Amino acid sequence: MSIIASRLSRIKPSPTIAVTQKARELAAAGRDVIGLGAGEPDFDTPDNIKDAAIKAIQAGDTKYTAVDGTPALKKAICAKFERENGLNYAPDQITVGVGGKQVLYNALMATLNPGDEVIIPAPYWVSYPDMVELAEGTPVFVSCPAEQGFKLQPADLEKAITPKTKWLILNSPSNPSGAAYTRDEMKALTDVLVKHPQVWVMTDDMYEHLLYDGIEFVTPAQVEPALYDRTLTVNGVSKSYAMTGWRIGYAGGPKALIKAMGVIQSQSTSNPTSIAQAAAVEALNGPQDFIAERAAVFAQRRDLVVSMLNQAKGISCPKPEGAFYVYPSCAGTIGKTTPDGKVIETDEDFVTYLLESEGVAVVQGSAFGLAPHFRISYATSTEALEEACKRIQRACGNLKD
Ligand SMILES: Cc1ncc(COP(=O)(O)O)c(C=O)c1O
Repeated sequence: MSIIASRLSRIKPSPTIAVTQKARELAAAGRDVIGLGAGEPDFDTPDNIKDAAIKAIQAGDTKYTAVDGTPALKKAICAKFERENGLNYAPDQITVGVGGKQVLYNALMATLNPGDEVIIPAPYWVSYPDMVELAEGTPVFVSCPAEQGFKLQPADLEKAITPKTKWLILNSPSNPSGAAYTRDEMKALTDVLVKHPQVWVMTDDMYEHLLYDGIEFVTPAQVEPALYDRTLTVNGVSKSYAMTGWRIGYAGGPKALIKAMGVIQSQSTSNPTSIAQAAAVEALNGPQDFIAERAAVFAQRRDLVVSMLNQAKGISCPKPEGAFYVYPSCAGTIGKTTPDGKVIETDEDFVTYLLESEGVAVVQGSAFGLAPHFRISYATSTEALEEACKRIQRACGNLKD
């Protein structure tokens, strides 16, 4: 009898974390590696936020807090939802967890019965299907290819809904594609959902502030108030405030759901770190100007990467609306041969070739459910990005028909 539970056979370790780890190992062994796998801003947490954490420590704010968030943080989150999204939530409709990841996990664990279906548009963030599987639900994938801007089409959503559908997970702007829904596109999706009262929406708004070219951010409960009572609006400070290591995510939603999520958290991790919660209060209540300044830098990097990748033979890179990822197709490299004589058969072969030949670490599209693509995170310095894109151009140029 194995010590490992059978539920582990249903899930795999995060492939994005695996790529980052492999790049770190190669770098530690002396290889010149450029890691474009990590999903976190290269910017530092602003000083006012760090200072709030230091003050919290000095003030003895170092004890257990309420399981799903301090009153001060819940108040700041309510204000944020009202200010930025026009959504009114009371403090008992707010939950705070250890990153957006725990919040999503709690929601799925608190709601899924065996066989309940969760619609996941592909390409998707790597953790959704595995979290659904852990909670004994069934992921239902809907393919959203590049020709559709990587966006879910209303007719495809309608087709995917069954009496067993419990959730639709939406993520805009998206990891990995960077695609973001306009108000009209979102409304077309919520119009479908209004007709199916058994379906709830879990909207993952982690990249809300990373939208370019003046595109407006929209979230389902704001676009369609009729869905307010069956929407969980998930967000967090990780990406917008460069606070990935602090581990604070949150959500607003119906009271009964929020309470159930708190029960799951009370029997697993209890409260997120008291000090990180104090820092998150300052993040949400403090100055916000740096967010737009940083987004402008990301937009410039996106333009650089898109332009350079489109000059690589066999690569085609759409220009995404947001987040800090591009999701190019490597279809034009499939069937070609590397200088070592290996035939590129899949996007996984392609990313392995990039890492081995040029020391560029990216993540294969198959990990996100749409192949043959690869994901580049451009949340790194412009110099590193330029060098990485030059190497990708060279690697593609070296492939033989
Ligand atoms: C789409 C998406 N949702 C959720 C998360 C999790 O965020 P956190 O670091 O706050 O747990 C990430 C992080 O990569 C993400 O890309």
